[in-house]
Amino acid sequence: MRIIEAHDYEHMSELAANYLIDKIHTNPSMVLGLATGGTPQGTYKHLIQDHQRNHTTYKEITTYNLDEYVGFSADNPNSYHAFMYEKLFGKIDIPSANIHLPNGTAIDLNDECKTYEESIKESGGIDVQLLGMGSNGHIGFNEPGTSFEATTQIVHLAQSTREANARFFHDINEVPHEAITMGIATIMKSKEILLLVAGEAKNEAMRKLVEGEVDESFPASVLNRHSHVTIIADKKALSGVTVR
Ligand code: GLP
Repeated sequence: MRIIEAHDYEHMSELAANYLIDKIHTNPSMVLGLATGGTPQGTYKHLIQDHQRNHTTYKEITTYNLDEYVGFSADNPNSYHAFMYEKLFGKIDIPSANIHLPNGTAIDLNDECKTYEESIKESGGIDVQLLGMGSNGHIGFNEPGTSFEATTQIVHLAQSTREANARFFHDINEVPHEAITMGIATIMKSKEILLLVAGEAKNEAMRKLVEGEVDESFPASVLNRHSHVTIIADKKALSGVTVR
């Protein structure tokens, strides 16, 4: 794992956006895996700015998002569909046919998991997967204890994850209990992974990721087994972490 230290959140976002823009210029028809949450929002802002100023085009780009809440349709303002359109897709020139998120309202959710997994495979696989990390080490919505073999699946959200994500809702009771997420195995099949980590609240998770054992009790630790991972983390997240 290559670790790049950023001064702060803003710097991390700028570095991450430049990293992705370079990849897009090299391969304008790449398959990009995307994430939600607070962490990538700054990166998306920079991608939009670059699109407006430098006209980087997304016409040939295909995207797959990591996850979606079960029961939330695309027009639910708290859905990850809505998040992605508001924070990125609505402000760049990506055709909607190229955008993929799991359908949290599919009648047969297990079938939706299979279809999503198949669709990623048929696209040729994810070239670069952007990731954030929960403070309990979750990636996508794969909570501690998730099998490293899991492909796209329905998961029960940890109470700590619901509490962390309650800031995006009026009330914690509105936070769903279930989500559909790419599994750890799905994420690991990406040719390249870009993990963003910022803030003191992620410092302990960062330490476990870099210094700890690879274990299913800390999902992000699996990234130590991937051959092409870049981490861009800010000073607060990296404080006191011994980089091997
Ligand atoms: C959320 C998302 C993850 C995200 C993580 C961290 O629940 N499902 O994809 O990476 O938790 O969120 P944040 O970036 O807001 O700290």
